[in-house]
Amino acid sequence: MNYRVPRTRRDIIETLIKGLQRLEYRGYDSAGVAIDGSGKDHAANISLYKKTGKVKALDEEIYKNNSIDLEAELDTHFGIAHTRWATHGEPSSVNSHPQRSDKNNEFVVIHNGIITNYKELKKYLVSKGYDFESDTDTEVIPKLIKYLYDNRENDYVSFSTLVERVIQQLEGAFALVFKSIHFPGEAVATRRGSPLLIGVRSQYELSTEQIPVQYNCSDSKTDEQEKNLLNRRGSTNALHSVHDRLAVEFYFASDASALIEHTNKVIYLEDDDIAVVVEGKLYVHRLKRAAGDDPVRAIQTLQMELQQIMKGNFKAFMQKEIFEQPESVVNTMRGRICFESNTVTLGGLSDHLKEIKRCRRLILIGCGTSFHAGVATRQILEELTELPVMVELASDFLDRITPVFRDDVCFFISQSGETADTLMALRYCKQRGALTVGVTNTVGSSICRETDCGVHINAGPEVGVASTKAYTSQFVSLIMFGLMMSSDRLSMQQRRLEIINGLKKLPELIKEVLAVDDNIRTIADELHHQRSLLVMGRGYNYATCLEGALKIKEITYMHSEGILAGELKHGPLALIDKHMPVIMIIMRDACYTKCHNALQQVTARQGRPIILCCQDDPEISKMAYKTIELPQTVDCLQGILSVIPLQLMSFHLAVLRGYDVDCPRNLAKSVTVE
Ligand code: F6R
Repeated sequence: MNYRVPRTRRDIIETLIKGLQRLEYRGYDSAGVAIDGSGKDHAANISLYKKTGKVKALDEEIYKNNSIDLEAELDTHFGIAHTRWATHGEPSSVNSHPQRSDKNNEFVVIHNGIITNYKELKKYLVSKGYDFESDTDTEVIPKLIKYLYDNRENDYVSFSTLVERVIQQLEGAFALVFKSIHFPGEAVATRRGSPLLIGVRSQYELSTEQIPVQYNCSDSKTDEQEKNLLNRRGSTNALHSVHDRLAVEFYFASDASALIEHTNKVIYLEDDDIAVVVEGKLYVHRLKRAAGDDPVRAIQTLQMELQQIMKGNFKAFMQKEIFEQPESVVNTMRGRICFESNTVTLGGLSDHLKEIKRCRRLILIGCGTSFHAGVATRQILEELTELPVMVELASDFLDRITPVFRDDVCFFISQSGETADTLMALRYCKQRGALTVGVTNTVGSSICRETDCGVHINAGPEVGVASTKAYTSQFVSLIMFGLMMSSDRLSMQQRRLEIINGLKKLPELIKEVLAVDDNIRTIADELHHQRSLLVMGRGYNYATCLEGALKIKEITYMHSEGILAGELKHGPLALIDKHMPVIMIIMRDACYTKCHNALQQVTARQGRPIILCCQDDPEISKMAYKTIELPQTVDCLQGILSVIPLQLMSFHLAVLRGYDVDCPRNLAKSVTVE
């Protein structure tokens, strides 16, 4: 935030902490704040406070510090704060944000997103003598801006020019806010791929205001041009005139919930916009003008209440997370799959790849939904790696005292990274000398720390107790592992290409599936009084049956069973009659004919199946009581699409039955007891 009105330092800290608390719902593992230091020239030094755990702990940490004058009134002030959900480096105070350029805090930065080329940048900066203190990808950013500042060609360089040069070097996704002792009272923020908005608070009526975007090229600016830059900007800036009459406050945030209690007037920044606040005035500029660029950034009025913003327009976090899947799968693949060269690199496994290729077998271990991700990918892993693949429920694996050997590679799949059964299985395998690999959504979790290597699924925080987007991201991560393992097998190249192309189209196909939500809600309306619901399928879609049935039982409290269609005749057929609701998954793959047979057995017993099938399949549709049509993808990816209607179905059933979707009875998000 940046104030151009007198505030005490206490006010400023309280505003920042409150903003962080508004973001707590997204999940985090540590938090930090940077504010102007004490003394007359307060903005020429920066006080930094960071703490793992709750925002409350950070708050206490700040107030424990007696050296800070809380009642001092500052008229122009700029403070930044951040909650971190670890992606690189465990949760710790040194890894939390703001990240800094050096011990004097010359430049400090907060970052949301991921810098995929941080290793190259770090190597370069280390070679230039810059010391790193954290394990984060973010730390390259403050170091890089300091490097550019230390090596500036002209005596004068503007803060925004430095940031412009920094982002030209960054790859990945980011929303960044910078603060520096060299530019006291100035704020610079920018984004690419991660959201960033600016709240504008003023008594002046702002609804029709617009900020003109300015274009400039920093490369060839002289001292004089740099100095003139601010003057030129001021003459065309709408908020300039506002400022002349009345005080304005600016709030930068990645999420409207952090600023909505201060103002509902916001400006959404576009990718590569650089927003600068200098002397209380806001400017937006970009390096280059591109065809179709909007020349202004309008101030918009948010109509939403806080609660609505956190969940968006969704009724529950689970529903929001289901609808986030087009983006969460992209985040899982980002920086790992190169669609131009058809290469797949999981950085966390690269050093162990040779060893994994020589192993005796792969063992995938997890509980609940995470176990299902193993079931879903076993077949394609067997095909791509040509290794035996076992999938194990952690508790059962331990109960059996399963033999494990030094040349086994054991995967521990866990959204939370803390599930006690999975963690114990990990320790068990470690003791027996196997190579251990974590597949988690929580960097710094116990499973992350205790495994030899791993893959972070990058699905983003999952708040709803019923796991949804973590499942599809686990699924994609394991597929990427198979693709990486088979990269040098000539005979696999055609299949690999087919799968990589399928992954490229996946986000769009997921959006198509989400569009069938209304149809699913109507079916749920018909089913919600039932006591039981069977979900049947085979092959690549068997895991969807297990996962769909788990979703239904855990949040709707209906009895539900995932049945392998090949087992139908061996018992479950006895359950089928005209009263038993059955969902069947029949996609166009190698099991199509066999599934068709199962369908005939169900209809012959007056069953009235609701069928998940491919678009335009009249053969199946004519035998169905109802159909839910899905786009077709590569067989081994179809389970990612087929699970989504069942996630939606369980959600609607739970709402219709009047249950709390996000907090089902008797269940916890992280099961840390045996
Ligand atoms: C179901 C669900 C659970 C978890 C299981 C393992 O929706 O969330 O079945 O999948 O408790 O949890 P993690 O993945 O955190 O190890």
